[in-house]
Amino acid sequence: MEPHFSSDWFSPHIPVWEEVLSPLKGKPDLSFLEIGSYEGRSACWLLENILTHETSRLTCIDIFHLSEESIETSTRLNLAMPTGEEIERRFDANIRAIGAENKVTKLKGASRELLRKLPLESVDCAYVDGSHTSASALIDGILCLDLLKTNGLLIFDDYRWNCFPEEPLKNPGAGIDAFLTFFKDECETVHKDYQVIVRKTKKR
Ligand SMILES: C[S@@+](CC[C@H](N)C(=O)[O-])C[C@H]1O[C@@H](n2cnc3c(N)ncnc32)[C@H](O)[C@@H]1O
Repeated sequence: MEPHFSSDWFSPHIPVWEEVLSPLKGKPDLSFLEIGSYEGRSACWLLENILTHETSRLTCIDIFHLSEESIETSTRLNLAMPTGEEIERRFDANIRAIGAENKVTKLKGASRELLRKLPLESVDCAYVDGSHTSASALIDGILCLDLLKTNGLLIFDDYRWNCFPEEPLKNPGAGIDAFLTFFKDECETVHKDYQVIVRKTKKR
């Protein structure tokens, strides 16, 4: 069975991910973390292209319901959104379709609560693609930094997303800039364009 997705926000990032993540491809015992999995498109790509060793693992965090923020965004962008149940069902089916159930831990809930329960310095790569507010991007980034191993990678999506030009803090850019300012001595920037990728260079 092939995975099915109702939208594609991920494919344009594949060339950069291939370049940055290729040194990790196929390594054993990798631990990746994703905040905002939706129907599992980016998760499936990671599982099929990087986390290919049988011992590697992916933790997927998602609220799997339509928050006020998602409803406001989809209304503004004129997108028809599936329900939270449909999104979660499709995520589960897609992970099953690629045969990766035993590699994935699905955690349902808000990232700012769930991230605090994960072990510190245990993650090789974290992808922040959940709530789009600046506050959320900053909080998710800070919590993920503590979870990353030294040399681990942190990927922020949507640095240039500007759905709410009249209310900039509803977009993630200012939060990501704040992260880059406050943690410039602990991270090196590997890539900065529509996505921002940093490497944690120091144990905290
Ligand atoms: C843009 S989608 C993720 C897309 C996915 N990474 C992909 O490339 O296919 C954002 C997801 O973040 C989730 N989300 C929004 N706010 C969240 C929060 N506070 N905690 C966890 N997940 C959240 C939404 O439910 C949605 O599924």
